[in-house]
Amino acid sequence: MDRQSFYKMMKGQTGLDYEVYLNSDALLSLQKPFDEFCNKDELQFQIVHQVEELWMKLMAYTLLDIDEYMVEKNTNRITTLFGRVDLLQSMMNEQLALLETMSPKEYQQIRLALGNGSGQESPGFRVLIRMGPLLWDTFKTHYLDADGKTVESIYDSEYSHCDAYKVAECLAQFDAMFQRFGYRHMQLIARSIGFGAQSLKGRAVDLLQAGIRRQFYPELWAIRDTMTDTWGGEYGKVRDALGKPDK
Ligand code: HEM
Repeated sequence: MDRQSFYKMMKGQTGLDYEVYLNSDALLSLQKPFDEFCNKDELQFQIVHQVEELWMKLMAYTLLDIDEYMVEKNTNRITTLFGRVDLLQSMMNEQLALLETMSPKEYQQIRLALGNGSGQESPGFRVLIRMGPLLWDTFKTHYLDADGKTVESIYDSEYSHCDAYKVAECLAQFDAMFQRFGYRHMQLIARSIGFGAQSLKGRAVDLLQAGIRRQFYPELWAIRDTMTDTWGGEYGKVRDALGKPDK
């Protein structure tokens, strides 16, 4: 078989139940036709972005479920679903590596075909950054305020590894993985277009560094600082050595 025959096979369109259920006909038509790619890397570029959008859609949908389970204080469901979110975030981060198999020159050719498109316009990303704060409000109302708890009490003065603590740690993990995407994405940019360049929106790409400092739940990070300072006291600043080295 020649290349064109394989291209035809890649479209599917056999009408079998698997294809009908998955709507694979439409799915496999969502990339540019093979003869319109500017180079051999463009299919990968489109697919990685499309897959990332699908994972973000599933993540946003799952987070809405989590939000509803928080109202019910159904901690078992919440932790299971946060496990799913964590895997989705891991995959999203890992998959960026695919784009590092693209040469800088081939990316420059693709970039010319992007119009004014930017990751900032990603529908999945936009919904997720709105959902982060929503989850915090629900957590605070139902797991903290309703029971007279605070972040300080569940982490330190009344620490018992309670449900509120468990859910708080799930939120911290979600926040950390979101930040990790930012770091990983920065590495990808360094590899493909470099940090010194102007972005498609005319901003220096190192402005993205503000994005990676984004924290959905600053209170969950600040409690670590407070505890270290409180527990350490003076001892935390200047310590005696544990060992007694020979003079
Ligand atoms: C070679 C590949 C990539 C390059 C060179 C690149 C480059 C950039 C640049 C320069 C920005 C800054 C915004 C701007 O002014 O345009 C940006 C933002 C962004 N990109 Fe990418 N990107 C790549 C791949 C991806 C992929 C695969 C995703 C997957 C979701 C993604 C998601 C985002 C998001 C969400 C933002 C907004 C970040 C924020 O506002 O904090 N990018 N990207």
